[in-house]
Amino acid sequence: MKILAIESSCDETAASVVEDGRKVLSGVIASQVSEHIKFGGVVPEIASRRHAENISAVVNKALSDAELTLDDIDAIAVTYAPGLIGALLVGVNYAKALSFGRNLPLIPVHHLRSHIAANYITHPDLEPPFFCLVVSGGNTLIAEVKSYTEFNIIGRTRDDAAGEALDKAARTMGIPYPGGLNLDRIAKDGDCTAFKFPKPKVENCPYDFSFSGLKTSVINTIHNASQKGTPVNEADLGASFIKAVVTSLCTNTEKAMVDYGYNKLVLAGGVSANSVLRKEVEELCKKHNWKLYLPELSLCGDNASMVGAQGYYEYLAGNTAGLELNAYAGMEIDNIRK
Ligand code: KG4
Repeated sequence: MKILAIESSCDETAASVVEDGRKVLSGVIASQVSEHIKFGGVVPEIASRRHAENISAVVNKALSDAELTLDDIDAIAVTYAPGLIGALLVGVNYAKALSFGRNLPLIPVHHLRSHIAANYITHPDLEPPFFCLVVSGGNTLIAEVKSYTEFNIIGRTRDDAAGEALDKAARTMGIPYPGGLNLDRIAKDGDCTAFKFPKPKVENCPYDFSFSGLKTSVINTIHNASQKGTPVNEADLGASFIKAVVTSLCTNTEKAMVDYGYNKLVLAGGVSANSVLRKEVEELCKKHNWKLYLPELSLCGDNASMVGAQGYYEYLAGNTAGLELNAYAGMEIDNIRK
């Protein structure tokens, strides 16, 4: 089954053709990073306008790269939640038009489910059930993936997402957008023991995360140093902050995996590209003799191939929609709304 998949939840306009959920026949991404960089973050209105301008060309290129036409496509999958509402609506409306015009099934795909599904492309042997640590710019959670379309949230952030905290730290340090990625590069040679940060804990909820205290702490460190006129070593501060975030992610994931008796860990979301996180989860899995699945770097950020992968399994589960499909800025991973 060949699915044409569309992604427009944030600042990448993307389209892919994916066969049977695992084989990527083409993948096109039009990134808007260069435009948002001058604002230090994504400007939602600009993102929506660029999606509207780019989407036809991106979809056409995905089809031509796969050497296919719409006649060869069996279904249309699209990210419908969560994300920037104006941005999501561009993809959803385009997908609805294609579905209506071609009389093709329309498959709504949850953004975080698709981040997890990036691993089905990287690892042809991976099948649920497994545990997944999902770390992106807007979400951080530990999920028990019971089947391709059944999710049980074990722990989640009570405030900021890990990516948000990394981006904010980078921004306060004057590091350009996309902050998390640039901070990772700058911190490579830093001393991760140079600065001390609190170890966040959520009372009586050992699997939940909290990153807002850590975020405030790094901002205070930077402001205090600037008020005193003391220079801050960016590499050391970045490395120490990343270490604090990664330690929190790994501590809770380890406890959840042990308590629930799982031995298969999957990493997903934009922050799964972080070099320290990848290394530390590798060590964690080695220590417990757990099997680890990391998404390939090109599939960590937003892309449409992962939407096509998850879309296939949503289709098999009967999760299709009609033209009444809407987009939603917020939605839990275990919720299905059409
Ligand atoms: O999953 P994603 O592409 O978008 C959302 O769905 O949110 O994640 C974007 C997040 C941003 O916070 C970005 O700074 C972060 O992923 N990110 C990284 C790295 N690459 C991207 N954070 C840390 N290290 C990286 N190498």
